[in-house]
Amino acid sequence: MKRIKEGIYEVGALNPAMRVFDIVMTTDYGTSYNSYLVKGQEKTALIDVCHRSFFEPYLQNIREVCDPKSINYIVLNHNEPDHTGALAELLAELGDVTIYTSQAGSIYIKNITNRQDLSIHVVKDGETLDLGGKTLKFISAPFLHWPDSIFTYLPEDKVVFTCDFLGAHYAEPYTFDYNMAYPEKYEKALHNYYDAIFGPFQKYVQAGLQKLDALDFDMVLPSHGPVLTTDTMLETAIARYRGWSAPVQREEKLAVVFYTSAYGNTKRLAVEVMHGIRESGKKVEVRFCDIIEHPMEEMRQLLNECDAFAIGTPTINRDAVPPVWELLAGMDAVNSPKRPCAVFGSFGWSGEGCPNVAARLQSLKCALVEEPLRATFVPTQEDLEKAKALGAALGAAL
Ligand code: FEO
Repeated sequence: MKRIKEGIYEVGALNPAMRVFDIVMTTDYGTSYNSYLVKGQEKTALIDVCHRSFFEPYLQNIREVCDPKSINYIVLNHNEPDHTGALAELLAELGDVTIYTSQAGSIYIKNITNRQDLSIHVVKDGETLDLGGKTLKFISAPFLHWPDSIFTYLPEDKVVFTCDFLGAHYAEPYTFDYNMAYPEKYEKALHNYYDAIFGPFQKYVQAGLQKLDALDFDMVLPSHGPVLTTDTMLETAIARYRGWSAPVQREEKLAVVFYTSAYGNTKRLAVEVMHGIRESGKKVEVRFCDIIEHPMEEMRQLLNECDAFAIGTPTINRDAVPPVWELLAGMDAVNSPKRPCAVFGSFGWSGEGCPNVAARLQSLKCALVEEPLRATFVPTQEDLEKAKALGAALGAAL
């Protein structure tokens, strides 16, 4: 337990040993599941909860501040189980509590606890809750990080509880940013966290920053990583978010031809697709990338930044080749709908690679400009002309 300000305590748990979060995100510095108790003159609120695995130390931390039965409200800024997993067990230790959360959160939490009998108050944007000398103001902050997210602002103490927003998977034992031993590692963790959690939600990040701009505060209390304070990391973290969420400014649209090729046949098609895009009459920058010749992270970033793309894959053992699937596994599914794309490739016997990739792109709601173009073994002149036409169709779709 750590005292943050008068009547505000951090009661969550550290998980310094964690190295993978949410299956896909590596975490070199562990994480923390921060939860905050706010004691007003009349009422007590718990803001966000904790991961289920840490329930016992979490409960002990709460007991160091107050009798759990004296908690009146639980505010759930965001209902992902790293913040709510311990709620079902915690409720057994509490008296009558009312849960404050968003409309979406009210649905999620019933399914996370498998309880339909929870006492839930759905908050409206701007609504307040008076604890006696401490006022909680709820601010809608959707997609930071799920549709349910809200911020909670406490104006008397000039603090904002932002849950995932401005958080980091980074565990040091001393809570406040000014006690951090390795600020450069924290900055790396902040960036990794932003990319993994908020990368698909840039517009919402900008909206969240605007909402913070309207508030007067000197501390951000996230639910992962250190508490951010003025003149230490607070301004830095906000500035980083502003920079990372700023739209990439390009003078021209960007189209990318991704391919890989065992014997040069899919590559020959790729070259013609590239020429077709260039000759489409559109002002467009075209990049040409053999997927296996570049770091996969670089390829994935390019895939998510471009305005249109073509993917060329051979067929090996009745499927597209693994590097193509690896590329597509990094695709930002949130922002991909309606992006123009094309699929092509050479095959020897059965040729499933192209239709399999096309089906995947359609499931992500990308806009295939034409049916996949397939060539048997070495492309004929007619195949090459079709590849150029495919590129032209892709360029025209920009
Ligand atoms: Fe830390 Fe989106 O949960």
